[in-house]
Amino acid sequence: MPGLKLGVLGSGKGSNFRAIADAIARGEINAEIAIVLSDVEDAGILALARERGIRAEFIAPGRFKTRMEPEAEGRMAALLREAGCQLIVLAGYMRMIKAPLLDAFPGRIINIHPSLLPAFPGLEAWKQALAAGVTRTGCTVHYVDAGMDTGAIIAQAEVPILPGDSAEALHARIQVEEHRLYPAVLKRLIGQGIVK
Ligand code: GAR
Repeated sequence: MPGLKLGVLGSGKGSNFRAIADAIARGEINAEIAIVLSDVEDAGILALARERGIRAEFIAPGRFKTRMEPEAEGRMAALLREAGCQLIVLAGYMRMIKAPLLDAFPGRIINIHPSLLPAFPGLEAWKQALAAGVTRTGCTVHYVDAGMDTGAIIAQAEVPILPGDSAEALHARIQVEEHRLYPAVLKRLIGQGIVK
């Protein structure tokens, strides 16, 4: 069976992309990354994708900070469609998703977020968890809707907050779990035919 075609969106260094691409390369997920898109021209995720021979494009976001300009998001949707993407995987993509993409891929966009949602949506969720003084946090894979980190939860992994934890140390431990959780969720969704 040919692998499910994934489109990956990211704004940062791309460690979740790498974890997913490596799991695909090891034959653990029946998928293929068809294209990687970023709103940040020098994002590490674009370089990582190109190293692997995957098409990777920067889309200029326009004048807003928290979302793409509708035209730019429309261009993203067109590229993802042309590449034949069946599931859109947000991997460190730092903008809200709006109608042009949501309507192009209804129920087919997933995200990973560095907290146990619904706690701590938004930016730098690990810092929010530290500031709140909770003893555990983690990461969540969820479907994307028009809200900020509000879509239906698919899976979560817990990470304890240790005495004296720094923001960097905590985020690094959350990322270890992210790199396990995201490929595992994709394997399950695709393997069980939940997305086809
Ligand atoms: C990850 O920790 C991811 O959960 C977070 O950005 C980081 C990206 O790392 N995403 C969000 O905060 C989305 N709201 P990566 O570029 O190394 O995958």
